[in-house]
Amino acid sequence: MECLYLLLVVFHFTAGCSLSGELTFKEAIGHTGGSVLLPCSCTDLQTKPQRVTWQVYRRGRKWTEVFSADEYRDRLQQFNEDSPANLSLLISDLREEDEGDYRCQTEKESRDYSLFVKGCSLSGDQKKKELRGYTGGSVLLPCSCADLQTKPNTVTWGFRSVKSKTTLSNEIYPAQTGQHRDRVKLSNKNSGNLSLLISDLSEED
Ligand SMILES: *[C@@H]1O[C@H](CO)[C@@H](O)[C@H](O)[C@H]1NC(C)=O
Ligand SMILES: *[C@@H]1O[C@H](CO)[C@@H](O)[C@H](O)[C@H]1NC(C)=O
Repeated sequence: MECLYLLLVVFHFTAGCSLSGELTFKEAIGHTGGSVLLPCSCTDLQTKPQRVTWQVYRRGRKWTEVFSADEYRDRLQQFNEDSPANLSLLISDLREEDEGDYRCQTEKESRDYSLFVKGCSLSGDQKKKELRGYTGGSVLLPCSCADLQTKPNTVTWGFRSVKSKTTLSNEIYPAQTGQHRDRVKLSNKNSGNLSLLISDLSEED
């Protein structure tokens, strides 16, 4: 009996962590500014691998360990400290450059993901549109990402007055300059809706 028990213990130990799911490449989709969880775990939640690494292959680069890549600093999270069988990787504040193949690798096996990161492409066309406002009133200049779940890394709004002879526009958001100071704001900050609200309109606007 004792022998059998010992045998079972040894078996359990050598069996270690076998990864759940299939070997085939899986797709994961994220949005710029959002986060994505790449799942990877031992089938038996009582086991854990001796070592686990996450590697990434991005276009035109070599396989690299994500935790040693500067680009991912402060954007990665794992959960295996609290639950050793959970080897999943959470990547946050996604960037388009994060797109590529990711591999969860233990001493025995691996699981692969292709990560696609959708960025912001503005909806509508480039044609200039007309809006009407009234002095003292406010106006919303519509602008949004076609997919509202995506958001750009940066957004700026510029202004050029009717009288101005130059083709250059002055930035009025996020830098608030000149006559627009304290009168402009994004209607929905931190979203794919980049519409600008200008209040207390004057004719010079
Ligand atoms: C691993 O942890 C993440 C974050 O808490 C969770 O979403 C995921 O479901 C866990 N996976 C397993 C297999 O428990
Ligand atoms: C963006 O926000 C404004 C103000 O909240 C709203 O009127 C507009 O419909 C929104 N645009 C989209 C595309 O959701």
